[in-house]
Amino acid sequence: MIQLISVKDYEQMSEKASSIIIETMKENIGGLFCFAGGDTPVRTLEMLAEAHRAGQIDLHNYYYIELDEWVGLDQTNEGSCLSYLRRNLFEPAGVPEVNIHYFDSQADDLDKECKMANEYIERFGGITLSLLGVGVNGHIGFNEPGVDFTQKAHIVDLKPETITVGAKYFDEDVEISQGITLGMQQLLASDTVVLVANGASKKEAIQRLLDSEEPDRNWPVTAIKFHSNSFAVIEEQLLDGAV
Ligand code: F6R
Repeated sequence: MIQLISVKDYEQMSEKASSIIIETMKENIGGLFCFAGGDTPVRTLEMLAEAHRAGQIDLHNYYYIELDEWVGLDQTNEGSCLSYLRRNLFEPAGVPEVNIHYFDSQADDLDKECKMANEYIERFGGITLSLLGVGVNGHIGFNEPGVDFTQKAHIVDLKPETITVGAKYFDEDVEISQGITLGMQQLLASDTVVLVANGASKKEAIQRLLDSEEPDRNWPVTAIKFHSNSFAVIEEQLLDGAV
């Protein structure tokens, strides 16, 4: 079952999440790690890079797969999910390119991109740990409300709210309507799942997770509650005394 961890603020959330990841890494050298982009995990990723530089962990000993990407976006765009990961983790820690698998979201054949991601995960026998954020509408990666939990990597028509909220990542106007994402099947099959959430906009999604009695396709985040080894590291203002 899920372990709910209440933290007082963003910094404490990041400390807790990074320490769970470091402990998991120490026990799984050579494992495959999947880290969400977006704003929530930024400090967690920075702390991992700091731990690498301090010699507490060697991030070069692991493999990484990108969780999701905006279809059609140039990956050098600062708002791309890959740019987030590069900026906050891979570059500061000097992780070799060969250790990273990512979607080419400008490829002509996006189905092939999905297939390659699926094969990469299969080669490792699954993901060791997934670090996930949650969308205001409860999405996980780009697994939007209504998703089929048995899906692997796939292309998604993004919900209007995801497109609206997504504008925060970009300095300029971008035309986005689709995403490419690992599927819930793969994320839920991770040995460990760490969900991080802070900020008032996530209140409803977290409330749904707390209240759910079974996974609810309309709030994909709820599925994490029923994972056998998951952690939800949540800012206390979102928990309202639930812990
Ligand atoms: C990004 C991703 C998304 C985000 C979610 C929350 O790679 O997978 O599901 O985790 O939209 O985004 P932030 O953290 O910016 O609030």
